[in-house]
Amino acid sequence: METVTTIAAVRERVRAWRRAGHRVAFVPTMGNLHPGHVSLIEAARAHGQRFVASIFVNPMQFGPNEDFAHYPRTPHEDEHMLAAAGCNLMFMPEVAEIYPNGSERATRVEVPGLSRVLEGEFRPGHMEGVSTVVAKLFHIVDPDVAVFGEKDFQQLAVIRRMVAELCMPVEIVGAPTLRDGDGLAMSSRNQYLTAAERALAPRIYAALQAAAARLRAGDREFASIERAGFETLEAAGFRPDYFAVRRATDLAAPAAAARELVVLVAARLGRARLIDNVQVTRP
Ligand code: PAF
Repeated sequence: METVTTIAAVRERVRAWRRAGHRVAFVPTMGNLHPGHVSLIEAARAHGQRFVASIFVNPMQFGPNEDFAHYPRTPHEDEHMLAAAGCNLMFMPEVAEIYPNGSERATRVEVPGLSRVLEGEFRPGHMEGVSTVVAKLFHIVDPDVAVFGEKDFQQLAVIRRMVAELCMPVEIVGAPTLRDGDGLAMSSRNQYLTAAERALAPRIYAALQAAAARLRAGDREFASIERAGFETLEAAGFRPDYFAVRRATDLAAPAAAARELVVLVAARLGRARLIDNVQVTRP
């Protein structure tokens, strides 16, 4: 695997692969890789012959009081993991390579509506930061296909909408959430948890599963399902931001007859803010 830091170098490598007839699959990340990220590279294998991963902690998607400065950065470990996973090119730019005029004055891409709900309500500007950097990375890497984890369900929905509306020639693939044995979704932010908080954290997935079971059983009392999930987590010591039942296609409030649903949660536990979701197809 080769590691490059400039836009010019990525373009040169990808153009050469394309001239040789290879399909290029891309996995954007913020680094500090764990097995969940490796599973994205593995998912990419089904869709291409050459693999690019980016490692870029994107300042634009962090709020002023969030963890940009402290976000875990482990470039050497990441490099080894990507090489072992069969990645061909690691793109690890400096902030100035992506935002030469600073991230605050950069041209932005916003997906209205979808970006403003749920995460957008509690992390203003976050989704806009994500759509902007992903649009830039797509222009730089020019992949045939890009893989994103379903753990960030809203992010995936925003990216799918952006790609469709901006006619970007990239196929978007969602890969299933990887979980620890006790159900906790893998995330770089899990390392902010103390041992006691880590023991509590799987209750998020348990609350999601309880909500999913009610939906699968035909319960249409969405507000009651949301309240039960929120209150269960609050009683366990979390500070939930939301526990929401939404239509999976567009994250709108579902009508009683809706079949494709998703239950999404964001909850703070100590220093960590954890997000997770489960998708439910009702009979
Ligand atoms: O999911 C992430 O790690 C980030 O939001 C992404 C997609 C790499 C954009 O910075």
